Amino acid sequence: MSYLVVTTRCPISYERVAGKVLRRENIGGVAVSLNKLMSKEGGVWICWGDGSADSEHLEENYNGYKIVRVLIPQREKKGFYDDYSNGILWPLFHYFRERIKYYGGAFDSYEYANRIFLEAVLKNVSNDMVIWIHDYQLSLLPGMVRQKSIRNTIVFTWHIPWVSAEFFATLPESRKIVSSIVSSDVITFHTDQYRSNFIHSADFLLGKSSDYAKKSFSIPLGIDYSYYSVNAVRAKNPFDSAMKVIFSIDRLDYTKGLTNRVLSIRTLLERHPELAGKFVYVMIVNPSRTSVKEYINFKRELEMNIGRINGEYASVKWVPIIYIYKKVNDATLLSYYRYADVALITPLIDGLNLVCKEFVAATDHGVLILSKFAGAATELKESLIVNPNSLSEMSDALFNAINMEKQEIERRLSLLKAEIKKRNISWWLARIRQAVERSNYEPTISDFSQE
Ligand code: F6P
Repeated sequence: MSYLVVTTRCPISYERVAGKVLRRENIGGVAVSLNKLMSKEGGVWICWGDGSADSEHLEENYNGYKIVRVLIPQREKKGFYDDYSNGILWPLFHYFRERIKYYGGAFDSYEYANRIFLEAVLKNVSNDMVIWIHDYQLSLLPGMVRQKSIRNTIVFTWHIPWVSAEFFATLPESRKIVSSIVSSDVITFHTDQYRSNFIHSADFLLGKSSDYAKKSFSIPLGIDYSYYSVNAVRAKNPFDSAMKVIFSIDRLDYTKGLTNRVLSIRTLLERHPELAGKFVYVMIVNPSRTSVKEYINFKRELEMNIGRINGEYASVKWVPIIYIYKKVNDATLLSYYRYADVALITPLIDGLNLVCKEFVAATDHGVLILSKFAGAATELKESLIVNPNSLSEMSDALFNAINMEKQEIERRLSLLKAEIKKRNISWWLARIRQAVERSNYEPTISDFSQE
C-alpha cells in the first residue's frame, strides 16, 4: 500500500530571493508528520506550488517519494485562498460569524482550484494507493474523485474544529461540502467533539445514517517526541537566567487569542506590581495570510495593544512584552522551548495546537498554560487549563505558573510527557492506517483515549 497525499502546503517550496532560488522546508506539524510517512512508504504528494520559483519545480523526487506541484492562476488564487478558504471557511469553522465575508464568486474559484487538484490526482493515482486528502481548503476533492469513478480508499483528515450542525448549515454551500466529505471511506478529526459535530451536521443536512459515525474517527495528531526532547538539550540559552520567561509562538491569527494574552499580562501587572522587572513575555508571531484583510486589520489591533501595555509598564531597563513578528528558525525555536519557564498557549479556539506538545517534549522545567478550547486540552490535562476569555483566569494561571514549586512542576511534566510520548506521530499514523485496514472497525466516542 502506498499513499497519494493531497495538501495545499508543500513539504518544500522554492522562493526567488534577490535573484537566487532558495529551497524552504515546511516545518509545520502536519507537513513534518506526512513527510515521515511518505519517506517510509513512498508514493506521491500533490500540493500547491505557490512559492515564487515553484513553477520551475513542478515535479521532483524527494526523500523516497514524488512531489507534484499544481499551480493555481493568480485570478483564482484570491477567490480560492483569500476569500473562500480564509475569508469564509476559516472564520466559520472557528465560530467567528462576524468576520465572515460572503464574497460573490469565491465558491466558484474554490471549486475551480479543487478541480486543479483533481486533475493531478487523476494523473498520478494507481490502483494500490490510498488517497489521503487534508483540510478545509480541499473539502470538495473527495466528492470530485468519487464522481470520476475512482474506487481507491479515500481518507479525509480535517485539521481545524468542526462546528455545531446548525452553525455549519448557515454556510450556503454546506450541503455540497458535507456530501463531498462523506464520500470518503475514513474521515478523521482531532477531538471527539469535532467528530460528533460532523456526524450531526451530516445527519442534519443529508438525512440520518449510521454510515457517518462508522467512518468518522477521533485521532489527534502527535509530534515526533524524540526530535524535540533530544535536540532541545543542545540548544543555547538566549535568556538572562534571573528573569522568568513566559513564551508563545503562533501564526498571526485572530483565532489564537493574542490580544487577550497581552491584556492578561496587564492584568497580572495590575494585580502584582511587585512582578515588574521580574519576568518577560516573549511573544513570537509568524506572518500569515498577509493578503487577507481581516489579518491586516488584526495585526494593527494587536500591535496597538502591545505598544500601549509596554508604554504603561516599561522602564528604561525593562519591557514586559518582547514582540517578534517574523518566522524563527528551528534552532531558535528549540532554544525558546527549552529555556522558557512558562508557555502561554491560549487560543480562543484551535483545531489541535502542536506548539503545546512540542514545548512539553522540549522543556525540563517549564509550566504549560493551555486554553480549554485548544483541541490538545482534551489530552494535556496536567497543564494549567484556562478560559482564554477570562483575563482574570489567565493572570491567576500566570501567577501560579511563575510561583509553582519545583516538585509540582516535575509531577505535572512527567505526566504530560508520558502522554505526548505515547500518542506521538507514529501512533497517529498507525491509528489512521488501522482505520483504513479494519473496514468493520466500529469507533466509539472517546475512541482514542481507550488505549
Ligand atoms: O491547520 C490549519 C491550516 O490551515 C493548515 O491547513 C495550514 O497548512 C496551516 O493552517 C497554515 O495556514 P496557511 O496554509 O494558510 O498558511
